[in-house]
Amino acid sequence: MLTPFTSFRIVVRSCQVPTGYTFSIMSILPMHYFGRDQILREKARKVRGFNDPALRKLAEDMIDSMYYYSGVGLAANQIGSTKRICVMHLPDDEDPTVLINLEITRKEGEREVTEGCLSLPGWQGYILRAEKVWAHAVGLDGKPVRYKGVENLLAQALEHECDHLDGKLFVDYLRSKDDLYEVNQGEEEGGEGEPRPVRTASPEEATVELQSPAERE
Ligand code: NI
Repeated sequence: MLTPFTSFRIVVRSCQVPTGYTFSIMSILPMHYFGRDQILREKARKVRGFNDPALRKLAEDMIDSMYYYSGVGLAANQIGSTKRICVMHLPDDEDPTVLINLEITRKEGEREVTEGCLSLPGWQGYILRAEKVWAHAVGLDGKPVRYKGVENLLAQALEHECDHLDGKLFVDYLRSKDDLYEVNQGEEEGGEGEPRPVRTASPEEATVELQSPAERE
């Protein structure tokens, strides 16, 4: 049983023995949760070196973890790293994408979206996101990549993951506590009933954190 306190979990994904001696092992990294793990509030540090096997391994483990937790995106601080890296696999994409040093360069317009987060399982909210989002990042090969999302999940995911890397969460954008609602696990958008960790952030914890910005005003 995976618990948030487990350092890692190894699952044998494929195994062809003895003919091929081909093992493919994936590491599921422990999820960090809103209301408990301060690293979600830390700003990620820019990645400098790209010819780094450890960086590639981190990206691969993040992709495996994203699939395990049934997400379409995952930022490094959600699994305990402060490197500025996130991964995405949107439903229309054939392959997952690794975005290193992701930065949003421009946003336009405003629209209301439904949003959830693997670090706040069992909860979704209505928030405002931009209609158009331009961003740039660097791929695992060190080459720069530009992204543009227009009123789609890519635009939302770019903002969501970039926010994570800046220490922000979607709940920061709730205009009212009534805009946050509980959903049955496995019914979240994009969720397909895959195993999920037990929710650890209670509504009370969420409320406490939600109230903090207002109290500072
Ligand atoms: Ni998230």
